[in-house]
Amino acid sequence: MLKRLLGMFRGRPVLIPGTDELAEGEARKVDIGDVGAGGTQIVLCRLDGQVYAVDTLCPHEGGRIQPGPLVDGKFVTCPLHNYTFDPRDGSVVRGSCKRAKTYRARERAEGCEVWL
Ligand code: FES
Repeated sequence: MLKRLLGMFRGRPVLIPGTDELAEGEARKVDIGDVGAGGTQIVLCRLDGQVYAVDTLCPHEGGRIQPGPLVDGKFVTCPLHNYTFDPRDGSVVRGSCKRAKTYRARERAEGCEVWL
């Protein structure tokens, strides 16, 4: 049911309010829907003034990419094996696996729009 509901919003962004409070070099976790029932969990990161959205599901072995200060002020990390990813495109900076999933994000006055 939730997947079907989320499917209705494909092509339309989800608005996440309060991103103006996201500091440079920080990542914040956001649940979109019920994560245990098919929702999506992302981290929103502010890097060079822009907001980027990365799925928290680590592409290595299913750990979770964590919120908090960005590593070296630029990268998100999964603490399970300490792989790091560039939130701009999900590319692997440290480690060896495929890219982390990223989503298009656009900040507006009301918050950040994220296309799932
Ligand atoms: S599961 Fe994320 S780094 Fe290994």
